[in-house]
Amino acid sequence: MIWTTLILFHGVLVLFLILSNRSRSKKEPPLDKGIIPWLGHALDFGKDASKFLTRMKLKHGDIFTVRVAGHYVTVLLDPNSYDAVLQDSITLDFTRYAQVLMQRIFSLSLPNHNASTEKALMKRHFQGESLTCLNSVMQGNLQGLLQSETLQDRENWKQAGLFNFCYSLLFRAGYLTLFGAEQTNHNRDSSAVYKEFRKFDSLLTKMARNMLTPEEKRITGSVRQQLWSLLSMVLPGGKTEDTWLQNYLQHLRDEGVDEEMQRRAMLLQLWATQGNVGPAAFWLLGFLLTNPEAMNAVKKEFDSLSLQADLPFDKLQNTPVFDSVLNETLRLTAAPFITREVLRNKTLCMADGREYAIRRGDRMCLFPYISPQMDPEIHQEPEKFKYDRFLNSNGSERRVFYKGGKRLKYYTMPWGAGKNECVGRHFAISCIKQFLLTVLTRLDLELCDPHSAMPKVNASRYGFGVLQPEGDLEIRYKLRCTL
Ligand code: HEM
Ligand SMILES: *[C@@H]1O[C@H](CO)[C@@H](O)[C@H](O)[C@H]1NC(C)=O
Ligand SMILES: *[C@@H]1O[C@H](CO)[C@@H](O)[C@H](O)[C@H]1NC(C)=O
Ligand SMILES: *[C@@H]1O[C@H](CO)[C@@H](O)[C@H](O)[C@H]1NC(C)=O
Ligand SMILES: *[C@@H]1O[C@H](CO)[C@@H](O)[C@H](O)[C@H]1NC(C)=O
Ligand SMILES: *[C@@H]1O[C@H](CO)[C@@H](O)[C@H](O)[C@H]1NC(C)=O
Repeated sequence: MIWTTLILFHGVLVLFLILSNRSRSKKEPPLDKGIIPWLGHALDFGKDASKFLTRMKLKHGDIFTVRVAGHYVTVLLDPNSYDAVLQDSITLDFTRYAQVLMQRIFSLSLPNHNASTEKALMKRHFQGESLTCLNSVMQGNLQGLLQSETLQDRENWKQAGLFNFCYSLLFRAGYLTLFGAEQTNHNRDSSAVYKEFRKFDSLLTKMARNMLTPEEKRITGSVRQQLWSLLSMVLPGGKTEDTWLQNYLQHLRDEGVDEEMQRRAMLLQLWATQGNVGPAAFWLLGFLLTNPEAMNAVKKEFDSLSLQADLPFDKLQNTPVFDSVLNETLRLTAAPFITREVLRNKTLCMADGREYAIRRGDRMCLFPYISPQMDPEIHQEPEKFKYDRFLNSNGSERRVFYKGGKRLKYYTMPWGAGKNECVGRHFAISCIKQFLLTVLTRLDLELCDPHSAMPKVNASRYGFGVLQPEGDLEIRYKLRCTL
């Protein structure tokens, strides 16, 4: 009996070794499997992906393959070669990995989903005419929320953490703009959704990596339920307005998606539309509050737009200083992975002529945060916030940056690039600009301690869009008495 068990055990072990015994062929990128069987580098990757990938880059150069939880991921870190990945949407597939994450994070599967129809819908509603309309609704919601926040007490300073201040205001205003249902109580409703969403958001990276403890699994399940039911209250009934959400849900119904999955899809959309804007606004306002010179430059620019109380938003388009501040903020804090599933064996041609074989079934991953964004060869003193980094000396927008003597097409990539570049970026930029303008004109807002420094980033969130802080900046604010 014992012998049978032992032989069986060894059989399994040998089989395991054969299966995991992948070796590198000469034409492939350097392979680093890590010492732990199957898991490979998963733990380092999850703890601080930026630190881990920087270490791998020092060891192997700007292309290498690592094993992460059973998967082989080829990481490319040369921005001059990014187009080889971004332009190949035939061999390198965006949707499959997105669907894996959809299942893990949102318990959502949309098997017959037509992504290109969905994207066309987004383009129609988040650009051009419709965008102007969305912007003015957003503006109204931002001002309404600020007003009600400061209604009871106009005389005294209110104290708050800047992160929650920004995230909560932008999330609720954005939620009311895109998901707002006429009949419900706006304020109470949006605050409840925000509160649950923050719990969900804090577990999101662990969900994506399949690393929840049993206790966290239980919490995730109940938070998800809670959000689904809060969101189902805005599921529209009979009337069909021509809003993005109405059209999106109709599109799902046309594809035969049942009501349960429609509710789950709403949470996905809530995250996609609201998960990054608030944290980005936090970093932006934080950098301005801790860099008086930058704050003054932005205020001067906003003043020169001859601000009246209700400036139409299209007067706000030409703002090179603000644009540079936002670009610089996102250079430092937007850290998405750009991941693609390899559908067929492929030869990857790098900008300098090197060629590598990439295997079917692996994943390709770009991490623009390391390069171009934090690359000292491209941006001097990359860890420093310089508000005018993206300005020429004559005040116009700077677009010329070099690496290795070559002019770069991608010198910062917060929105991704190519076919899957963020569809919502114009809306996101407008939201942040409006938020800043509203805060600077309607509020007196200052740091509690004028000498406080920006908090560190939470290293566990590298790879998931805009970073979040570990710690916070304490501020106080009150409504301007002139208004
Ligand atoms: C600061 C805010 C935001 C940042 C930094 C950001 C960043 C990104 C990035 C990097 C991608 C590309 C992912 C890839 O190629 O793998 C992306 C895709 C996308 N974003 Fe955003 N985003 C933001 C806000 C928004 C908003 C407000 C919306 C909607 C209103 C939105 C909707 C989308 C959609 C639908 C896609 C998928 C595009 C596709 O399927 O091809 N994003 N975003
Ligand atoms: C999605 O829909 C468009 C237009 O309705 C169609 O041309 C395309 O082939 C569809 N794609 C898939 C994968 O079904
Ligand atoms: C860092 O982020 C993770 C994932 O969002 C979260 O669970 C954790 O509590 C955060 N840590 C700190 C110190 O904020
Ligand atoms: C900010 O960066 C984007 C590239 O992500 C670029 O298209 C845009 O023109 C930049 N704006 C400024 C003011 O540098
Ligand atoms: C793909 O490449 C791998 C490794 O180089 C090889 O073993 C496999 O046979 C190739 N598959 C096809 C379909 O060419
Ligand atoms: C500003 O300077 C940049 C380069 O420094 C130049 O390309 C651009 O033409 C100048 N713009 C104006 C209006 O002078």
